[in-house]
Amino acid sequence: MDRILIRGGNRLSGKLPISGAKNAALTLMPCGLLTDQPLTLRNLPRLADVDGFGHLLNQLGASTAIEGTRPDEFGRVMTIRAGQLTSTEAPYDIVRKMRASILVLGPILARAGEARVSLPGGCAIGNRPIDLHLKALEAIGAELEMSAGYVTARAPKTNGVARLTGGRYRFPVVSVGATENVVMAAVTAKGSSRIENAAREPEIVDLCRCLVAMGAQIEGIGTETLEIEGVDRLHGATYAVMPDRIEAGSYACAAAITGGSLELVGIDAESMGATLSALSDAGVLVELTKNAVRVTAQGPLQPLTLTTAPFPGFATDMQAQFMAMLCKADGASVLTETIFENRYMHVPELARMGADITVTGRTAVVRGVERMAGAPVMATDLRASMSLILAGLAADGETSVSRVYHLDRGYERLEEKLSAVGADIERVSDG
Ligand code: UD1
Repeated sequence: MDRILIRGGNRLSGKLPISGAKNAALTLMPCGLLTDQPLTLRNLPRLADVDGFGHLLNQLGASTAIEGTRPDEFGRVMTIRAGQLTSTEAPYDIVRKMRASILVLGPILARAGEARVSLPGGCAIGNRPIDLHLKALEAIGAELEMSAGYVTARAPKTNGVARLTGGRYRFPVVSVGATENVVMAAVTAKGSSRIENAAREPEIVDLCRCLVAMGAQIEGIGTETLEIEGVDRLHGATYAVMPDRIEAGSYACAAAITGGSLELVGIDAESMGATLSALSDAGVLVELTKNAVRVTAQGPLQPLTLTTAPFPGFATDMQAQFMAMLCKADGASVLTETIFENRYMHVPELARMGADITVTGRTAVVRGVERMAGAPVMATDLRASMSLILAGLAADGETSVSRVYHLDRGYERLEEKLSAVGADIERVSDG
């Protein structure tokens, strides 16, 4: 299995290109199931999760043709053609490996009138149920049946035609995935839908814009109330995936923790508000240009108090990376995780590298230390793995991060991007 080896201590400097957003890609790809015409997605990141989602679309009868860019370029173009669905089922062994597979539920149901999807079960960062996905779909007309670890959703039939009715649903808790699922299902419903307390994450704005490009009628995009007027059919479109705000935020932390300066090119600053203001509060210089941000460390990092929250709050997907960065701050920081109950698995690994962190319930107190020391470490999820990479970049000596497949799920060519800006980092294979 592959490992990433880092010899820490280099200041990073230079330009680093930001890829298309993983979490946007994973909700834009299932939109291809909603029409019999081609959906072309540009700026799709090269990631294991994107490949995995492509396989799932293939199993459902959609083709996924990749064109365009040379192997040395970032990003890809994918055209999804779902002339006809040959299956309406997302099986356990796919959903188990990639939780985002649940996002095919709404589109298959809308397109075929019936969908059968395995329940995802637990995952490393918490229990992550799908009850809200199901309640929202039920509110727009889906009839649900649970058996043998699967949920079957059906649209009601009128004169032999199965079609969702539309309806109103107010989320009791903000959920990104459940909002995405119900929006994708509602766009071709017979009637209108009103989704309240919808998630407002930039990836949802991206989803809505893509659906509008395909002929959907959605009002209130970017707000917590989405009004959707069902249309009879969607058509094909070409759409560019938004830049990855979490990848960009992670590399901003890399500049800060190494005392360096990076220009992150191809970002969307509006989607990164909470991250950029937290960096400024930590004493990092943040300079915006047209489609880039330059992040420059200046003097010691200041400690922060941060609480994760739905957008526009501070993203849970940035918590682990900020924690690593704050291990080097001049004082004690307090981080509180409110979205997932078990998202501190990086703490014992960071501690092995010399970090001083105490966790009580959902709150972590991070006391800055002068030096961290390289060590063999491993992590159990994507962002936790990135926090170990960041710590390794700033630590003395060698850090070896195992279970690289977590990183490959969400960071396009991580070691290439980091070594191009001065990191001593390589991927090694233990056979
Ligand atoms: C998405 C992102 C993930 C990010 C998260 C929060 C993707 C592929 N993943 O995950 O990177 O960390 O948003 O920004 O886009 N919940 C329920 N019932 C449900 C659904 C969710 O109780 O049916 C709970 C979850 O357990 C969690 C909270 O709601 O505590 C928020 O989860 P949600 O926003 O749904 O996260 P995901 O869509 O899974």
